[in-house]
Amino acid sequence: MKKILFVTSEAHPLIKTGGLADVSGSLPKALAELSQDVRLVMPNYQALKIHGDVRFLCSVRVDNRDVNILETRMPDSAVIVWLVDYPEFFSFPGNPYHDEHGNDWPNNAERFALFCRIAAEIAMDRAQQNWKADIVHCNDWQSGLVPALLSLEHDRPATVFTIHNMAYQGLFPATSTVTLNIPGQLWQPYGLEFHNMLSFIKGGLVYADRITTVSPTYAREIQTPALGYGLEGLLTYRKDVLSGIINGIDTELWNSETDPYIERCYKAESLKDKQLNKTALQKKLSLPADKKIPVIGLISRLVEQKGIDLLIDCLSEMAAMPMQFVLLGSGDKTFEQKLLDFAQLYPEKIAITIGYDESLAHLIEAGADIFLMPSRFEPCGLNQMYSQRYGTLPIVRKTGGLADSVVDAVPETISNNTATGIVFNDANPGSLMEALKRALILYSMPEIWKKLQINAMKKDFSWQHSAEQYLELYQGM
Ligand code: ADP
Ligand code: GLC
Repeated sequence: MKKILFVTSEAHPLIKTGGLADVSGSLPKALAELSQDVRLVMPNYQALKIHGDVRFLCSVRVDNRDVNILETRMPDSAVIVWLVDYPEFFSFPGNPYHDEHGNDWPNNAERFALFCRIAAEIAMDRAQQNWKADIVHCNDWQSGLVPALLSLEHDRPATVFTIHNMAYQGLFPATSTVTLNIPGQLWQPYGLEFHNMLSFIKGGLVYADRITTVSPTYAREIQTPALGYGLEGLLTYRKDVLSGIINGIDTELWNSETDPYIERCYKAESLKDKQLNKTALQKKLSLPADKKIPVIGLISRLVEQKGIDLLIDCLSEMAAMPMQFVLLGSGDKTFEQKLLDFAQLYPEKIAITIGYDESLAHLIEAGADIFLMPSRFEPCGLNQMYSQRYGTLPIVRKTGGLADSVVDAVPETISNNTATGIVFNDANPGSLMEALKRALILYSMPEIWKKLQINAMKKDFSWQHSAEQYLELYQGM
């Protein structure tokens, strides 16, 4: 049994801004089910939704600051959660990373450096819990300093750094190395320095014993200039310790047979019941209730990564076609406004909900016929897996985890029952429109469509397989 410290800046259902929270909510549980001793450490944000008891565990002093560690558990699981409690940094409402206008909190470097120092102290058992980690598994830039700090320790645990998104690197001015009291040995080009900026993500990429990313295709893509953001050389240099493990999904939370958020539960054998969710969705969003018309759904952070600009370029043409389009998301204000303008122009065709709404997300997955993910890049992506499980066939661009988890419907894959969606190659509106038209043609052939739905619903996206791959990785360290 390994003692694994899972270091993350968000975890569902405590707090979530994106897929990292889904992964942090379910991978540690899956590892615990494989009989591992997993503890999760994250900041004690004011916005956390705690389920169950919280107790004071201990206090740890770093950088002249006394930081409390609180203990709780992940709901319905044995996974212990240690909360880094430092009210001055974490006790304010809202998003963990930025204010309501999308501007990063001005002291993010201090906040997450403190978080990393505490995680490293816990890993070394300097929180006096008689629990020293064998493996410290860090995620994204917010935990990037942990492998760097641990590299300076004797008799340290092994470290894994998982890249969920190379686009967010935690870059700060060089002067912050002084404020943050960064050990001098770490401040060098083959270290935390990146073009005279302090790079948190490099702490993971340079110093972790193993690097993983959340799909095999993305592991290759980040070794190229297109998606390496100037770090492709470093990643290629470390390619022997870099691998891609595709995310699983929480198959209890995303289960059309038991989903409490939807109008009517259904399974592959009772696909007719899926229709009731479509009607409920249309009613909820004030679209004409029409069983025949294909409903296309999209749920996303509204940022360039997700190809929202491509979609916006297609919307007028889409509105002229026999389909309804429903979108739930928030992010870039310009995207939000353009989308709302389209909804106003075509109220019978387009419904836009700006905001974050878990229950509507489930109803869209269940009620839509087709799910759209035209991402420019996508390290893994989760909604394409949720939608396949719900028999809502995804249209995806061939990138990252989308390429690894959706099988394009072409004559061969249709006849051998492996097709589960529509895949297109190029990130431009023309290719997206072509994919949409291809989807509509397939939708107009109910026998084939149903076959594709069943293929998709029968696919195994559970964590078990991926958790086993992580375990194998830990065991080889
Ligand atoms: P990313 O982490 O890049 O945002 P993922 O596909 O990995 O993309 O995960 C996004 C997660 O966040 C999914 O679980 C998705 O359903 C959820 N999500 C995104 N936007 C919203 C929203 N506006 N309301 C509810 N859930 C959302
Ligand atoms: C990131 C990526 C997304 C991935 C998620 C969880 O937010 O953008 O593709 O699914 O992390 O790994």
